[in-house]
Amino acid sequence: MNFESDPHASADGRWQPVRLAPGLFQADQVVAEQEPACIVVQQGRVVWVGPQAAVPAAYASLPVHDGQQMLVTPGLVDCHTHLVYGGERANEFAMRLAGASYEDIARAGGGIVSSVQHTREATEDALFAAALPRLQQLLDEGVTAIEIKSGYGLSLAHERKQLRVARRLGQACGVTVRTTFLGAHALPPEYAGRSQDYIDLVCQQMLPALAAEGLVDAVDVFCERIAFSLAETEQVFQAAKALGLPVKLHAEQLSNMEGAALAARYGALSCDHIEHLSAQGIAAMCQAGTVAVLLPGAFYTLRDTQVPPIAALRAAGVPMAVSTDHNPGTSPALSLLLMANMACTLFRLTVPEALAGITTHAAQALGLQDEQGLLAAGRPANFVLWPVQHAAELAYWLGAKPDCTIVRQGRIARRAAARA
Ligand code: NIG
Ligand code: FE
Repeated sequence: MNFESDPHASADGRWQPVRLAPGLFQADQVVAEQEPACIVVQQGRVVWVGPQAAVPAAYASLPVHDGQQMLVTPGLVDCHTHLVYGGERANEFAMRLAGASYEDIARAGGGIVSSVQHTREATEDALFAAALPRLQQLLDEGVTAIEIKSGYGLSLAHERKQLRVARRLGQACGVTVRTTFLGAHALPPEYAGRSQDYIDLVCQQMLPALAAEGLVDAVDVFCERIAFSLAETEQVFQAAKALGLPVKLHAEQLSNMEGAALAARYGALSCDHIEHLSAQGIAAMCQAGTVAVLLPGAFYTLRDTQVPPIAALRAAGVPMAVSTDHNPGTSPALSLLLMANMACTLFRLTVPEALAGITTHAAQALGLQDEQGLLAAGRPANFVLWPVQHAAELAYWLGAKPDCTIVRQGRIARRAAARA
């Protein structure tokens, strides 16, 4: 029987026997692939990982959580979402089926701007209530850290409302939420024809105020011909830099603007989408240690045909992350495992690349590499026990909703049914 666990249940103790997903853990002693392993948790942190037969005597008397021989990975990290918004845009899905493109819809006043209208009309409580079940679906699949962007408010008050909801969601669900200010997502209707004025507002008023309120962990821009230019993007990056905030970029999604090279010059944590990324962009990202975030849900929804330059990214050693890009327009995706599957099937990632993409590299894309994305002694206890034989199954099943056990921030957030 499945049951929602007591949210206060501590994960402290020995988790055994479990099997460790290759490549996603650092053990204190060598662990062979199928060998029964043990994870020791104390005070919410992993303190030891290794073969069950080699658990140090100091931990031998700790209570045991039955790991049922399940496969353990670090908690999943969804590093690019627009989870907080009013309304939905199923009508645009129908329009696209009838032949309209994303750009056609945006130019006709739909797209992002339509979500802006619904987000502005919604109260903070209404936005929270709408986002909560979406977040819950991601969490039930093992997400232990998530990024949530603003960008559907496009005024100080409404961007604040979105970011406050994002913070509240993290507190209510006991999950790590990183907030990203995306004030430069689209031009709000009241600034039509006055793009520079809006960017000045973003840089001089919105960002400094929201940063001072502790609502901004990073800053993002939609750099695209239907959004903001390279020069406008750089102005936002300068404002972020002046406040000591890291930057990210929606880069080269619909065309090559050479945004990635600019972002890399500002030490960006990540460049996201990057279907049209150039060789120059790849070289710059490689040099800056910028993560390439692949968003196959948007690629699929828009029926894009321009595949990101995976082979070149791989050859250059640029870390690749995979995320849902959950948003009401281009990626109404609520399964990170499905995105891992799509990254393999549509973009030809290998399974180990896809799994690193939803864990280790996704954590890096958020600057959370010391807390998330790797199972290792000293890290906060964030891990998932999966009822699968092979790690490849995590990217293989389509829509499986595995009955997993989830340890989030040292607490047992979900417990799998006993296995025969
Ligand atoms: O990441 N590319 C721009 N922003 C979102 C889409 C937002 C929307 O259409 O509402 C994205 O795909
Ligand atoms: Fe996005």
